[in-house]
Amino acid sequence: MLSEPYSFLASASVIPVMVIDREADAIPMAKALVAGGIKVLEVTLRTGCALAAIKAIAEAVPEAHVGAGTVCNGDDFSAAVDAGARFIVSPGQSEVLFSHSINQNIPLLPGAVTATEVMRAAEAGFKVLKFFPASTSGGAAAIRAFTGPFSGISFVPTGGIHANNLLDYLNLPNVQAVGGSWMLPKDKVQAGDWQAVTALSLEASELSNMKELTQ
Ligand code: 3PG
Repeated sequence: MLSEPYSFLASASVIPVMVIDREADAIPMAKALVAGGIKVLEVTLRTGCALAAIKAIAEAVPEAHVGAGTVCNGDDFSAAVDAGARFIVSPGQSEVLFSHSINQNIPLLPGAVTATEVMRAAEAGFKVLKFFPASTSGGAAAIRAFTGPFSGISFVPTGGIHANNLLDYLNLPNVQAVGGSWMLPKDKVQAGDWQAVTALSLEASELSNMKELTQ
């Protein structure tokens, strides 16, 4: 059961990891994802225009629930929240990120791929964790193994996930959602082919709806 600040994840089986190189792409990209049934959006702070992109999406695409990813320090956490991010994702974890999340009342998905990292995040009160890079950290089998010792902890794996393997993850009882960039191929984004992004998003949404059917 998701606690209140994390309830937005209940309807988010697929979270796109958005790397936005051109600020002008932010709104059409977000709209293309939303049109494909994907409403929780993670904009990574890996590009110079990421904060401006978050602001633009927060203002112009109200049906989206936008957050920031690749948040690795406290300054980036605060800047992302100021820009309009409603949740924060980090590839790792730190005391500063924990305290920013608690003090600013903004949900944080800290990264964890080892038992010790899971325990540290859980001890700080964080129960929904990013599992990155999923494909090289043991994949679905590693997450499945965490069901034994870590009941009550769920994961959002990212890294190497795509249409052909997303159900391997989503069918695990301790996977809340999957993340990735496969519905945003670089060539399609560069060409402004938003229809292609919507088509890939629809495919991802439809696949994620098959979750119950294959369980
Ligand atoms: C992330 O930051 O979560 C990953 O870079 C996304 O991984 P992908 O590009 O392999 O989907």
